Amino acid sequence: MLNFNFYNPTRIFFGKDRLEVIDKNVPANARVLITFGGGSAKKSGLIEKVKTFLGKRKIYEFGGIEPNPRYETLVKTIEIVRSENIDFILAVGGGSVIDGTKFISLASFYKGDSRDLLKYGFRPIPFDVVRKVVPFGTVLTLPATGSEMNSGAVISYEHGKFPVMCELIFPEFSILDPTITFTLPRIQVANGVIDAFVHTVEQYITFPADAKVQDRIAEGILQTLIEIGATTVAEPENYDARANLVWSATMALNGIIGAGVPQDWATHMIGHELTALFGIDHGQTLAIVYPALLEVRRTQKRAKLLQYAERVWHIGKGGEDEKIDLAIKKTREFFESLGIKTRLSEYGVTADKIPVVIEQLKAHGMTALSETQDLTLDISQKILERAM
Ligand code: NZQ
Ligand code: ZN
Repeated sequence: MLNFNFYNPTRIFFGKDRLEVIDKNVPANARVLITFGGGSAKKSGLIEKVKTFLGKRKIYEFGGIEPNPRYETLVKTIEIVRSENIDFILAVGGGSVIDGTKFISLASFYKGDSRDLLKYGFRPIPFDVVRKVVPFGTVLTLPATGSEMNSGAVISYEHGKFPVMCELIFPEFSILDPTITFTLPRIQVANGVIDAFVHTVEQYITFPADAKVQDRIAEGILQTLIEIGATTVAEPENYDARANLVWSATMALNGIIGAGVPQDWATHMIGHELTALFGIDHGQTLAIVYPALLEVRRTQKRAKLLQYAERVWHIGKGGEDEKIDLAIKKTREFFESLGIKTRLSEYGVTADKIPVVIEQLKAHGMTALSETQDLTLDISQKILERAM
């Protein structure tokens, strides 16, 4: 097992009818800004309910945080936070609203040009750059990203998606009520299953580090997603299936399975370019890239791919290569069984666009990806060709 530090201060309130905890967990005299997305949380009545639990506190609202939240949208809120002396933010939404809120929280006390905060990539922003943030909590409406219990955000600016990492932007608390996610369109639920699945495999199918606890928790999450995936897409109001999706997605990216193990974020980095260039949903980009990446990287990942085949898919028969072939095939079939296409061409992207993606990866410094930092632009190109 590799050395690791682990820190996660987010308080979780899980289950039905948990909104009443807002009153105890938001300071009594706070001036509260509620952030939300394009309108789903208004339409469902969730924002009104949240306001009821905030009682007499002074409330401000900022809606319109779009999927793949844009810097240009978020800076407008920073002005509100400063001018109205907001001292608590409540994010009501999916990964985009929560990520956008994290950026607002971080940038509100930053003295310089807040675009500076997009330059750190996966390096945590040092505490002497941002010393203070606006505390925030979340009401999660879409299980997928894990943003409700981690300290990362992904912010879109110009033609790129920029990771922002900082320990100061863990939510103070997150309310995870599976019933709030019942209004999601099927496609978003399927995207969420795939996002959680790929977060897990990117911290698991790397090279062996003898991290037995992390491996077995990862295998538990993967088997849970395989077991409940199709059901939770087909039966939106099946509480037990959805509750298991919600907790799987949170557990997949709250730091527990990633502690002390190698990590491969290549699929996410290539996928971010596909979203930025072609507007393909985050989960769908992962469904396109991941099976192709496994095909191209099967030698580097051989030992863990075999473990994945045997322990996650229970493939007992056949030689090692046959087991790996079948595990990759089953992975692709699983994504497709949720109604998500796994070929780039099925999203209207033609092979002549691959060099454009490679140029963007280069422009964003994504030239040495993966758990071994040897996934070059040439290999990214091969993966995208395989994904056609
Ligand atoms: O904007 P509204 O109207 O609310 O509609 C949203 C949006 O159109 C809708 N939605 C959300 N909850 C709903 C609902 N519709 C009906 N009922 C509900 N209960 O769903 C659509 C997508 O929402 P979005 O928040 O964009 O989806 P998701 O949670 O998948 O977030 C994607 C973003 O998270 C980033 C991605 O890059 C992308 O920008 N990620 C963040 C990570 C993190 N912070 O750790 C890790 C991930 O790998 C990911 O990169
Ligand atoms: Zn993701």
